[in-house]
Amino acid sequence: MSVTPNPLRSGLEGDRTGDACAVVIFGASGDLTKRKLMPALYNLAISRVLPGSFAVVGVSRKPLANEAFRGEMREGVSTFSRRKPIDGTLWGDFEKGISYAPGEFGDPATYEGLRTHLEAVDKERGTRGNRLFYLAVPPSEFGPILRGLRQAGLVSDSAEGPWTRVVVEKPFGHDLPSARGLNDMIAATFREEQVFRIDHYLGKETVQNLLVFRFANSLFEPLWNREHVDHVQITVAEEIGVEGRGKFYEQTGVTKDIVENHLMQLLCLTAMEPPISLSADAVRDEKVKVLRSLRPMERRVVAENVVRGQYGRGFVRADEVPSYREEPDVAKDSRVDTYVAMKVKVDNWRWGGVPFYIRAGKRMARRVTEIAVTFKQVPHTLFRSPDGGITPNVLAVRVQPDEGIALRFISKEPGQHTILRDVAMDFRYGSSFGSNTPEAYERLLLDAMRGDATLFTRRDEVEEQWAWMDHVFDAWRASGVTPPPVYPSGSWGPEAADDLLAKDGRRWRKP
Ligand code: BG6
Repeated sequence: MSVTPNPLRSGLEGDRTGDACAVVIFGASGDLTKRKLMPALYNLAISRVLPGSFAVVGVSRKPLANEAFRGEMREGVSTFSRRKPIDGTLWGDFEKGISYAPGEFGDPATYEGLRTHLEAVDKERGTRGNRLFYLAVPPSEFGPILRGLRQAGLVSDSAEGPWTRVVVEKPFGHDLPSARGLNDMIAATFREEQVFRIDHYLGKETVQNLLVFRFANSLFEPLWNREHVDHVQITVAEEIGVEGRGKFYEQTGVTKDIVENHLMQLLCLTAMEPPISLSADAVRDEKVKVLRSLRPMERRVVAENVVRGQYGRGFVRADEVPSYREEPDVAKDSRVDTYVAMKVKVDNWRWGGVPFYIRAGKRMARRVTEIAVTFKQVPHTLFRSPDGGITPNVLAVRVQPDEGIALRFISKEPGQHTILRDVAMDFRYGSSFGSNTPEAYERLLLDAMRGDATLFTRRDEVEEQWAWMDHVFDAWRASGVTPPPVYPSGSWGPEAADDLLAKDGRRWRKP
């Protein structure tokens, strides 16, 4: 498939360089910094889109000298960068801007030290007092950090002059009251326009492309509604288990870890109306409308619309893997969900009566995230097919891996007889654009440096997400959280999830 340049992205490189600034990472000795943030910044440097005057300051408790911190970051970049091997000359330049300011998050001296440190960085690197504070720490640390920054006068809230912004990582609360509490705490220090809440799924190329696909093509949008769509399936399936995060998972489960944020965002982008512009608020307004249209899961209907599951032992790609309950830091009688499937209704004019089946699971047969829109059957069948019916058209957006979009339709098999075959028109990012697409964090960090919040979640959006999810959790609590059915690792989840669709005469796709 040949590709014409996308006008929406023309001139991108030049346009997208951010302002001079220092990125200050709290939690700099943690995994996220090494695995994602530093490799993303380094790749932005390779792509020549970092601002000319730029610095990274790491803050964490661990006592470390600048040199040792740079060494750790280099190691992280060498291992996790999408572009390998590391370019020694470029790294040499890049690391000149990296420094470290150790300190306890609860100690005011940390912030006094940081202020002096940043003043020196401004002089040396020309970062002009612009600061992007990145909270790569658990929410329990937000309070002390925000207080410390505020009290040390490190936050400027004037619309003129040097800017200050804050990026916050998930998990953003564990229910509506806790999310509101975090929002209030942040709002005591930063205006909403200064706040960038990360959902890394929004930084994925294929997720961004959903808007382009829907609203830059005239072909699909007229069909994207209850008149033509039979149902929608959204799947986030992972092969990995909890990967040493048993303690975290015992507190969260897959519903809070993946459905409440990533999957809800996919649903919003699939179901939303065209925004009036691509401004951050216009796009987020439309997503919020979808969240407000979701039919609340009342207690009496949760059991028939939601299926939980937990992985047992099994084989993933021929490797034998333990059950969830055998993972470190997991209770032997844990009732936590590692799989969930739901039938969701979007009660609005466009989607009235169209079910959205969503599912997320760990230790599934295959890693795949996709959005599949199944269209209605033809109104009258002219052709006879061996299995009695004609397979409906399906448009599948493969978010990952093997990123692309496939449209399945019926075709005649060549020959003397009219034999119908289900075939696909398949667009693959790899073959059309080459495979080295930017990582989500590259896009998101650059957008935060530029002050573009379109791909970040707004306060009301996260609160609406939790408000809807809380109905489900309430119902589970009210009925006493029962042990979820166990599904073998390497399968597609518990049988009850198949029944969820079977009772509507439908089937999950085996992507
Ligand atoms: C994270 C979850 O937000 O997303 C993880 O905490 C999950 O449990 C991860 O594995 C999935 O992200 P990706 O980009 O690999 O699909």
